[in-house]
Amino acid sequence: MDTVIYKNPGPEEYNSLGQLLRNGELVAFPTETVYGLGANGLDENAIDKIYKVKGRPSDNPLILHVPHAEAIEPLVASVTDTAKALIGAFWPGPLTIVLPKSELVPKRVTGGLQKVAVRCPDSLIAQALLRAADVPVAAPSANLSGRPSPTSAIRVYGDLQGKIPAIIDGGDCRVGIESTIVDCSTDMVTILRPGMITEDMLRTIVPNVTWDTSIVNGQGIPLAPGMKYKHYAPRGTMTTYVGSSQQVGQTIGNEICNHSHKSIGLLVSDHTMEEIEAFIVNRGLQMETFNIFSVIYKTNHNHEHLAHSLYEALLAFDSYDTELILAEGVHPIGHGRALMNRMEKASNGRVIFI
Ligand code: TXA
Ligand code: MG
Repeated sequence: MDTVIYKNPGPEEYNSLGQLLRNGELVAFPTETVYGLGANGLDENAIDKIYKVKGRPSDNPLILHVPHAEAIEPLVASVTDTAKALIGAFWPGPLTIVLPKSELVPKRVTGGLQKVAVRCPDSLIAQALLRAADVPVAAPSANLSGRPSPTSAIRVYGDLQGKIPAIIDGGDCRVGIESTIVDCSTDMVTILRPGMITEDMLRTIVPNVTWDTSIVNGQGIPLAPGMKYKHYAPRGTMTTYVGSSQQVGQTIGNEICNHSHKSIGLLVSDHTMEEIEAFIVNRGLQMETFNIFSVIYKTNHNHEHLAHSLYEALLAFDSYDTELILAEGVHPIGHGRALMNRMEKASNGRVIFI
């Protein structure tokens, strides 16, 4: 199958992409978080295609995407007060809400669960496609299972070329990591997956917010089934360091000197990069003598920039065949919680607080 990439689609093209979805075909599209692989969420055969194309375990349920809040009404048994409040505050945006499902939602979408996850993205391209589709669109991240979520159309193409008919290219995703998922079926809001809408932000709207204990303890079965799967780790051995720029810079500088024969990937903030360079120069060495591929995020606004760069960096490290990856993480509070959730998985648990 030829995979056509649509850049800046016009109304006619949106119409035909919407038709493609209604006909049971798959369309990959940008959202503000990551690219999604969309299918008609009411068509079991179309949903099966998602699982087949991604190689995704069928017990891992899908999020239904809608162009506006009212569109969830046929999909859920009831919209609780907590859901209403969070929708009012954060939709459209990177927040997925889990509610008891209606009869209309096929079991294939929810992996047999009685609840359904719904999300209204704020990406204008996603909204235009969802309006054109005129059906709820089931969409996981548009990667092969076990790979990082793609944040650009070219990465979607790399994974799904020849397997799907259409990709909409909307450039780089603004946020870069997947939405926060909350269960709103009761008065107590439970965070099932951390994202850039944080616990504190949720608390400003609803008083009772708690965490799925399996995320906090790292034990037990997660309430979001997808959280139990092994996530993407780059081929090179990755370690994430958290501390001041000076501390992290010195530690990483030392690691670089100790592994001078290896190809090294760096994912660090600009201040820490300066510390690394100073450390190496102080040793009487030059950065240029090492085999380093680096991705640098801005120290100011570090959370946003790290989220924006993270998955692309992981993919680039593999393209450059880096053997050793030295990453600078952030304290796991606020936005840092979501970032460290992803970085800890990418590092296979090797996180060092200095
Ligand atoms: O930002 C996002 O949410 C992106 C974009 C494309 O919207 N989508 C995304 O989908 O990350 P996916 O399939 O990669 O992750 C969905 C997560 C999985 O961990 C899944 O188990 C969980 O949502 N999930 C889906 N339906 C659920 C439900 N009814 N109850 C609990 N967890 C659910
Ligand atoms: Mg995913």
